[in-house]
Amino acid sequence: MPNRFTLEHRLPRDHSATSLRTDVLHGLATRPRTLPSKWFYDAHGSELFEQITRLPEYYPTRAEQEILTRRAPEIAALTRASTLIELGSGSSRKTRLLLDALTAAGTLQRYAPLDVSSSALTEAGEALCRDYPGLRVAATVTDFEQDLALGDEPGPRLLAFLGSTIGNLNPAERQSFYGTLRHALSSDDTLLLGADLVKDTGTLVRAYDDSQGVTAAFNKNVLTVLNRELDADFDPAAFDHEAVWNEAEERIEMHLRSRSTQTVKIPAVDLVLGLHAGESLRTEICSKFRRDALTSELATGGFTVRHWWTDSAARFALLLAVPTR
Ligand code: AVJ
Repeated sequence: MPNRFTLEHRLPRDHSATSLRTDVLHGLATRPRTLPSKWFYDAHGSELFEQITRLPEYYPTRAEQEILTRRAPEIAALTRASTLIELGSGSSRKTRLLLDALTAAGTLQRYAPLDVSSSALTEAGEALCRDYPGLRVAATVTDFEQDLALGDEPGPRLLAFLGSTIGNLNPAERQSFYGTLRHALSSDDTLLLGADLVKDTGTLVRAYDDSQGVTAAFNKNVLTVLNRELDADFDPAAFDHEAVWNEAEERIEMHLRSRSTQTVKIPAVDLVLGLHAGESLRTEICSKFRRDALTSELATGGFTVRHWWTDSAARFALLLAVPTR
């Protein structure tokens, strides 16, 4: 590993154990029963998500890539960023389009990815150091919803939050997240946000309930995470994967619906979960956005939208916003 790569651990050693326990107690012991979607992403879950991004029905990744391919040079010219910060960077695949453009513009010095997965950060960092010879990669293992203390990266900074991960937060969580971002960024920094758009229900539901069952496996994988980490005895086969469109909230919800009346033990949190047939656990919300509403919730959070780009089929949006002066 070249010395241009640094990895800072900002999570306590037992972070995932502690916060998973809290999340399970808060989420599963109360109604509606929910689990935060970040627990999907153990090594197997991350691999399944990579497979999802290649499914014919899952259009968001390709749509966002189309926009980035077309707009990256413009983004580089507009921001002239010295540091690219990326939240939830995962495999950093789409990031290369931005790194290429910022390198060509001659402004880029540093790439600062933030993720909860140190293995994803290490793998991506290794590849990027190899492929971008002058680049410093300063990776941080953190849960950016809780801790977004950015380092002393040279400005101007471009903070990218791609993939419509913003949609996994509810409106109140999004406002608090914008507040955190607003606090962390200075006046010459820019936010690059990817957001999936409201569209016909069939297209949306198919994107989250694919014909090969990859999304079903991804959804059920969270149960194997609980089995492994908390000694639980979930039987994934005792649940059905469901993706439903919540019209009032304009979001896809992923659920795991109990096929029968059953009892699940979760010893690590001293919980015995009684589920009746048809009762569901909500494992993810994927909010879909409209231009006016997203622009105005960002304004409330202290950001002015300067550019709004969509793919040619208008399925997905990429926006550039600055702290409101
Ligand atoms: C990229 C994490 C936002 O909501 O579309 C894909 C995750 N869940 N299929 C999304 C996901 C089910 C995804 N995020």
